[in-house]
Amino acid sequence: PSLEKDFLPLYYGWFLSKKSSENLRKTGKAFLDELGSLKVFKKESKYFLPAEDPKVKLDLTSYFVKRPPSVLHCTTKFTDFGKAMGADEYAQQEVVKASYGKAFTLTISALFLTTKTAGARVELSEQELLLWPGDVDKILPTDNLPKGSRAHITLGCASGIEPVQTGIDLLEFVKLEKAGTKDDEIEEIGGGKLQYFGNGMWMLLLSKKIEVKAIFSGYYG
Ligand code: A2P
Repeated sequence: PSLEKDFLPLYYGWFLSKKSSENLRKTGKAFLDELGSLKVFKKESKYFLPAEDPKVKLDLTSYFVKRPPSVLHCTTKFTDFGKAMGADEYAQQEVVKASYGKAFTLTISALFLTTKTAGARVELSEQELLLWPGDVDKILPTDNLPKGSRAHITLGCASGIEPVQTGIDLLEFVKLEKAGTKDDEIEEIGGGKLQYFGNGMWMLLLSKKIEVKAIFSGYYG
């Protein structure tokens, strides 16, 4: 046994290949452009516009001004260099050690946006779920959502919003889905079925799911 404790990363996750990253960014941007031009969206665009100047032209790409600087990723466990709750327990799991540096294929089933964040919803395989922490799929302690509900890739955040919000927003969608509170008026657009959940919460269920290549690893900042 080594005398020194391992240094834990800021977070563990799957890091997309450069090519997959570029493609997903493009797909995300195309979705924002298309959504922003739709009548149904414009009717509800007040959530994205400043109250004092609601006539200003809305460009969703510049609205989500904070975009991940390097390759896109899907966080599994935010360990905060070992300071986060459950960090050591997570890092010490055999499956985490054995998977470190290994390649995976992530499946993206939907794109979503709220007034705070834009992201891609990740559908984890059984093998990938083994790397998913047990304590992250809830907003409230009483929430009981399927494992992996929070799995996502942040594509952009509105001004003043931190990326941790994207996962919280996705959990909110999952809770609304469970409660059955989405708009009946589903519209078919380029990439799939568009759903509206109210309050500026939009989700595009992709008719053709996107597969991306990714390496499971840690990010040290
Ligand atoms: P996400 O995975 O949703 O994009 P930061 O740059 O703020 O330190 O965050 C680094 C990464 O870790 C981001 O990708 C972010 O969100 C994720 N993250 C930050 N804080 C948390 C947290 N408390 N819980 C889960 N993930 C977090």
